[in-house]
Amino acid sequence: ASIRVDLDDATAISDELYGLFYEDINHAADGGLYAELVQNRSFEFSPADEGSYHSLTSWTVNGEAAVADTDGLHENNVHYLAAEAGTAIVNAGYNSGMAIEAGETYDFSVWARADQNANLTARLLDADGNPVSGTATVNTGAGEWVELSTVLNASASTVNGRLAVTTDAAADLDMVSLFPQDTFLGRENGLRKDLAELIADLDPSFLRFPGGCIVNTGDFDREGRERAYNWKDTVGPVEERLTNQNFWGYNQTYGLGYYEYFQFAEDIGAQPLPVVPVGVTGCGQSAEITDAAELQTWVQDTLDLIEFANGPADSEWGSLRAAMGHPEPFGLTKIGLGNEEYKDQFYVNFPAFKEALREAHPEIEIVGNSGIDDSGAVFDRSWEFMREQQVDLVDEHYYNSPEWFFSNNTRYDGYDRMGPHVFVGEYASRSNTWWSALSEASYLTGIERNGDVVDMASYAPLLSNIDYIDWAPDMIWYDNHQAVKSASYEVQKLFSTNAGDEVLASTLEATPIASPDIQGGIGLATWNTAATYDDVKVTAADGTELFSDDFSTGADGWTVGGNAAGAWSAADGSYSQTALVEDARSTAGSADWSNYTYEVKATKTAG
Ligand code: AHR
Repeated sequence: ASIRVDLDDATAISDELYGLFYEDINHAADGGLYAELVQNRSFEFSPADEGSYHSLTSWTVNGEAAVADTDGLHENNVHYLAAEAGTAIVNAGYNSGMAIEAGETYDFSVWARADQNANLTARLLDADGNPVSGTATVNTGAGEWVELSTVLNASASTVNGRLAVTTDAAADLDMVSLFPQDTFLGRENGLRKDLAELIADLDPSFLRFPGGCIVNTGDFDREGRERAYNWKDTVGPVEERLTNQNFWGYNQTYGLGYYEYFQFAEDIGAQPLPVVPVGVTGCGQSAEITDAAELQTWVQDTLDLIEFANGPADSEWGSLRAAMGHPEPFGLTKIGLGNEEYKDQFYVNFPAFKEALREAHPEIEIVGNSGIDDSGAVFDRSWEFMREQQVDLVDEHYYNSPEWFFSNNTRYDGYDRMGPHVFVGEYASRSNTWWSALSEASYLTGIERNGDVVDMASYAPLLSNIDYIDWAPDMIWYDNHQAVKSASYEVQKLFSTNAGDEVLASTLEATPIASPDIQGGIGLATWNTAATYDDVKVTAADGTELFSDDFSTGADGWTVGGNAAGAWSAADGSYSQTALVEDARSTAGSADWSNYTYEVKATKTAG
């Protein structure tokens, strides 16, 4: 094989190509990146979040206690536990329990209210009830809600830990919380260190958050427990934040909210890329805003988000950011409007957001999206619309087979350089195998080669708790105390930590080999320049000829895979293409084919 490189033919590669797509899916936040160890700390879980949930999910009560909602801590956090004297409550956390490490310190805190002083005693236990820490006691005093905190020192390790709190007098309890002190960068209300460090190691240039489908789902009436994701519900003191139904079927506490996302992005050197809903749901849901005045409230929320991120510390929303600990702006430069949109109402609503942003914040780049599919009517309509709207970037999503990724390397070769640029906001080769990761690596070479029109790309989804899987494949897997990097993680890291500045034009001359993984067909490896094939032959390892074609009768049986740019041509008995091809006649089935190693003998005759 030989590779020819043209040193005079260089194309710049975007310097923000490799980034992250984070969605609160698979318990990515609660029970994942968010370091809170207590599940259902505010007694707000409800069957509306998930059928089997209730206000005491993850809690055991020994004694007398009931969940109440009279004069709760805050209108967004109405439920609390009214416990009688001598009652002990025990929280089991996520997975098999809390991961407690001997020698580490843990911040225990609680909001409490009592008519007369109650002593609240906290302690860490293992699953059998044996103590794994000393005790620490806080006093409620008598009167209104008060926040109390103390520290617990772990004396033994367990991955089945529990938090137990006992009260010696009647008391109302809310926001019962336990954090390891050893969070990522030691931040309060912080992130689980091992997961955050794995993410930081990817050296991402951007962080798209908080979804995905959790962005364009829910109810727009701002009441109830299934609200559309609104960033304002996720900021301010944690005890005043809503909890909400997560589209993926669990309760999301919003403890990891917009402030924390911005902070995390800054901490890992990534530019923040929030995505907001535009008054229409997708992902199989049907709510939409058709009233202009109602839509305007969501447009204003979007403008307010820019102020929260970038506004002066004395502006309305900038002052909230400052009060939360970050007087300096977060430096937001881009915002995503909608996720995988395809409904007619989207095309009606989108301009209201875009125009308001262009007028108030011409400095902010707008990321539109291309609908739910990488081909077909929705995709074409969306792209046309995004061009008309003159957005800066279009967010494309696709999840496909390894073969698709191998064969669509040329996808962006023909993309219009004059229109909006591309943000590949979600992609993954199905199955977390080495083979699928290899196909992603192969595909990324095509993205880099088009680094002048594809500005940004992010694998999806990023995180999955092994006991709460909503979607796979995922890049990083974990339980309550350990994390596993997928092969796709290694590919992302390889590319993002070795990002190039320019790609040089090159041609490869080689004998292509068939993929051993291709089932029900023979694949011809391809590259950017058209090649012409003749006399294709497939032999098994023992030399048996499985298949051959000299194309003397044209192209019958062969199909061009994927929707690659190349065109089939079988004129004069030879075969020319730039896409993967499959021969439908070679469908021996994966069971038989797996017994062989394959070689496709192709003669490159011209092209
Ligand atoms: O990444 C998982 C889901 O895939 C996202 O929520 C959605 O945008 C896409 O369909």
